[in-house]
Amino acid sequence: MLDNIITIDGPAGSGKSTVAKILARELNLKYIDTGAMYRAITLLALQNNIDCKDEESILKLTRNINLQLDSNSVDESKYTTVKIDGKDVTDEIRSREVGSAVSIVSKLPGVRRYLVGLQKKFIQGDNAVLEGRDTGSVVCPDAALKIYLTASLDERIKRRDLQIREKGQFLERNIIKKEIISRDRIDSSREDSPLVIPENGIIIDTSKLSIKGVVEKIKKLYFKKVNVKNET
Ligand code: DC
Repeated sequence: MLDNIITIDGPAGSGKSTVAKILARELNLKYIDTGAMYRAITLLALQNNIDCKDEESILKLTRNINLQLDSNSVDESKYTTVKIDGKDVTDEIRSREVGSAVSIVSKLPGVRRYLVGLQKKFIQGDNAVLEGRDTGSVVCPDAALKIYLTASLDERIKRRDLQIREKGQFLERNIIKKEIISRDRIDSSREDSPLVIPENGIIIDTSKLSIKGVVEKIKKLYFKKVNVKNET
């Protein structure tokens, strides 16, 4: 068991990022946003006019770039800085275009293999909280604590709506709903590393919990796991 690793998986809007960032700060762990990595590769494909299903071309490009992920717990809004060959793409990877295409790119087994390899390197000998869809099932099945966050569809739509408004933008709720349902379907039904509850994973429904409530619950579970292990 890896004492110093927590994984948090779950569908979009379940609260993963918010909770993972706070945990990283309060437990002094490195924050690894694996979704940001899939988004960066998607951006790269779009910028180079490559079909998002063209695995060979995407991989060719991917292998020639330097993908950098920096954790900074001081500035909450810039918690993860993502750079491709030194160029900051942190904001670009959050565009709607990338959001619509990322599920297609993240289905490609070669892309997954490549990014999982990088993710494993990022956590080697380090303390980290990983966030994504397969971090507990594939990237780090030996993590001390594996959390699966979920929330009702209505709640997830509400959260996404708020996020969009905070950026000064607007999207009809029924379009948000369609986008969430479509991403859920693709993420959960793909053949390679679908979104699943990891073995021994603990499910937390965040629909009716405050952020603080979820964080405290996970911290309690983490200390319990780590202390029990140290006593044996
Ligand atoms: O968490 P996010 O919305 O930034 O993730 C973007 C997409 O990346 C999501 O639709 C599924 C994919 N993803 C994945 O397949 N595996 C991961 N570990 C993380 C994200």
